[in-house]
Amino acid sequence: MCGIIGYVGPRDSVPILLSGLSRLAYRGYDSAGIAVCHEGDIDCRRAHGKLENLIERLKHDPMRGRTGIGHTRWATHGRPSESNAHPQRFGKFAIVHNGIIENFLDLREELRAHGHEFVSETDTEIVAHLISDCYDATHDFAGAVRMALRRVRGSYAIVALCSDFPDELVAARNQCPLLVAVGEGENFAASDLAAVLAHSRQAIFLEDGDIAQIRASSVVITDLSGEHVERKIQSIEWDISAAEKQGYPHYMLKEIHEQPQKITDTFRGRMLEAEGEVNLDENIEKLHLETCRRLQIVACGTSYHAALLGKYLIEQYARIPVDVDVASEYRYRQPIITPDDGFIAISQSGETADTYACLKLARQHGAKILAICNVMDSSIPRAADATFYTRADPEIGVASTKAFTTQLASLTLLAIHFARRKNAIDVATAQRLLRALRAVPQQMERVLEQSDHVRACAQKLLRANSFLFLGRNLHYPIALEGALKLKEITYIHAEAYPSGEMKHGPIALIDDRLPVIVIAPKNPTYEKTLSNLQEVKARGGRIIGIVTQDDDRLTRVCESAFPIEDCEEIVQPFLSVLYLQLLAYHLADLLGNDIDQPRNLAKSVTVE
Ligand code: AGP
Repeated sequence: MCGIIGYVGPRDSVPILLSGLSRLAYRGYDSAGIAVCHEGDIDCRRAHGKLENLIERLKHDPMRGRTGIGHTRWATHGRPSESNAHPQRFGKFAIVHNGIIENFLDLREELRAHGHEFVSETDTEIVAHLISDCYDATHDFAGAVRMALRRVRGSYAIVALCSDFPDELVAARNQCPLLVAVGEGENFAASDLAAVLAHSRQAIFLEDGDIAQIRASSVVITDLSGEHVERKIQSIEWDISAAEKQGYPHYMLKEIHEQPQKITDTFRGRMLEAEGEVNLDENIEKLHLETCRRLQIVACGTSYHAALLGKYLIEQYARIPVDVDVASEYRYRQPIITPDDGFIAISQSGETADTYACLKLARQHGAKILAICNVMDSSIPRAADATFYTRADPEIGVASTKAFTTQLASLTLLAIHFARRKNAIDVATAQRLLRALRAVPQQMERVLEQSDHVRACAQKLLRANSFLFLGRNLHYPIALEGALKLKEITYIHAEAYPSGEMKHGPIALIDDRLPVIVIAPKNPTYEKTLSNLQEVKARGGRIIGIVTQDDDRLTRVCESAFPIEDCEEIVQPFLSVLYLQLLAYHLADLLGNDIDQPRNLAKSVTVE
């Protein structure tokens, strides 16, 4: 998520903006910029890369101003570059923006038809032009922002400057966090408390649809129609570290709880339920991967588990043969690759050496290459023909969580898209699946409410020295992911097996010391899994089950049961994996381990 800060008051805003942006740097970014009102105009400095580049630029080309805005950008629309950095300017306006404007292409075409020209690839620049157009009619700064945002569909946290109003910021929020910090004769706007805690502990958390006119000694909040709304000032007790984790004890737990929002963001603008279609970027569509003889997916670690899920989904719905390999194996096994193949590289960081090497190998053999990645313009997307970007925002915890579920969201949409292009599923089926996916974020929220229940279960598992995870079909990759999460942060051995494999050996492991975590929601393989569990139970095994709620048959044989709602099979992995993430997290926390930086691990494995 990008970082936003604004200031209006008696002091020079530049040092305040820069220190605020440095507080937001932990969120990850690829460019930064600030703008101030100065002598009836707006001064703006931006730089690609780290904040130091911006600071260096300001040393050679300083500026001052008592009202200003700043931004650290995590690219979503438009690659990382100075021209795409914020603040984005037009006419009398400069704005900084977090979020995704869904209808920016339509708005851009409409503005172009009125003679507007654009210098960036961002959706944010469109908003600056829109506000300017609205302002020309009224010369009312806040009114122009309200009028412009009534045309906008999507998510935003925006703070704007206008050279005609040098003592005022206008801030607006819709589905992206934004707050006003109240000082003594000065006020601040920020996307995140960490940016302003050094100056004020009095915060107004804006709500969706709020527009705030912020002056040094007043804050006036209205809705989009201009009607006043009351928002209370809250006293903040958090320290900086807590603020950076938004009150969670660890980044990993924060990122586990961010997943519903990140799934919403990854789906945003890409699901057309009414038409039963998936709306992909043109450069992905024109690859026509659905016409390939087969698809080869390559990845590492958690991304490999997402790749396995992709196989099940694409074969099940689109009926395209899919091979999946661990990158470090694929690149050395003399794989057969032809120009008729589609190649998909999945990588959160976009920098994993083994995955990148496989992509280059596929390139040499003429395959069409799609990347699924969370970091815009990283090495793997740059080498691919097209990239499906997950919108998880920076993932700080080394143990991947929100990157995984947004990869799953991406692969699910791709599977439905391929299936529709091949007519392997009809419109009604696609509509049903897309409607089911639209409900996933809320269903995830309800699972996350069970966190304390999971912790209580983890308390009873602390003395286990090995775990066995079982799952079938779509849930076998989830079992693999659960085992990996547990290993990574508790340092306890765990392994995963397809449930049906128990009788081929692993059942010899079963005794009353080995917790068996089984994923067995109601789906076509449920009865088979139930009989697998009877085998475990008969040998005194300890069963922890992820079950469909109200499934008393299965709950009865479980030491602990974690319920998920009765839902489409395609939805179940999004819900079951949350329990396994929480189980690993709580076990590691109870063991007192370093959760965000587990021993021996790196967030991105850029070496072979
Ligand atoms: C997952 O929790 C691990 N951090 C690790 O397995 C990771 O998924 C793997 O290194 C792949 O990273 P990537 O997605 O950035 O390519």
